[in-house]
Amino acid sequence: MTVEEAVLIIIQAFWAMLPAYVAGPVAVLTGGGPPMDGGRNWKDGKRILGDGKTWRGLAGGTIGGIGIAGILSVIVRGAGNNDLTDFLMPNWETNLSWIFVGFMMGFGSLFGDFVKSFFKRRSGKERGSKSPVIDMYDFILGSWLLAIVFANPWFMETFWPEAYAFPWHMLVVLIISPLLHRSVNIIGYKMGKKDVPW
Ligand code: CTP
Ligand code: MG
Repeated sequence: MTVEEAVLIIIQAFWAMLPAYVAGPVAVLTGGGPPMDGGRNWKDGKRILGDGKTWRGLAGGTIGGIGIAGILSVIVRGAGNNDLTDFLMPNWETNLSWIFVGFMMGFGSLFGDFVKSFFKRRSGKERGSKSPVIDMYDFILGSWLLAIVFANPWFMETFWPEAYAFPWHMLVVLIISPLLHRSVNIIGYKMGKKDVPW
């Protein structure tokens, strides 16, 4: 692999993950109001999800993910037929629209986040408490799961193109995401949008 190829893989991986990356921060900005669990408790007497998971956050973050997918799609179309077109949203060959892919990545990201909260509550962790590593990967696993199941051709062409025997794009995502996650949360905390810097 050449240096140019490696750089391109990093850019493409980041690019394709953007709808999943923005969903969380947009949920933080738009969140509030009625919690998704309706304030109800699970059998163990603890909250099902907690006050940190709200309908407004879920809707806002999902729409944010779709919106970014739309913007990326417009940029790629404007850029014409260069290398990035292998990673465009929509994927012309599979005919998946940017709305569909954006939804799977954006909603999937928040899906991973609230499934994590469910298990955090079961283990007795309060809302906003730290669960190292899991907090940094929940949204990746959620967005990938939904994309693998519902947008498989797009996922494979994007994160594991046939040209490579190894899924380099996925490895890049697993390495850069925790770093991005941590930085964005520190910014959110300093801006007063998040109560804790994680
Ligand atoms: N948020 C929301 N709805 C979501 C996800 C996030 O309203 N579906 C908002 C909430 O205001 C939340 C903030 O974004 O407090 C930060 O999100 P996150 O760190 O995921 O939630 P925590 O409050 O840390 O809760 P948990 O312990 O369940 O992760
Ligand atoms: Mg949290």
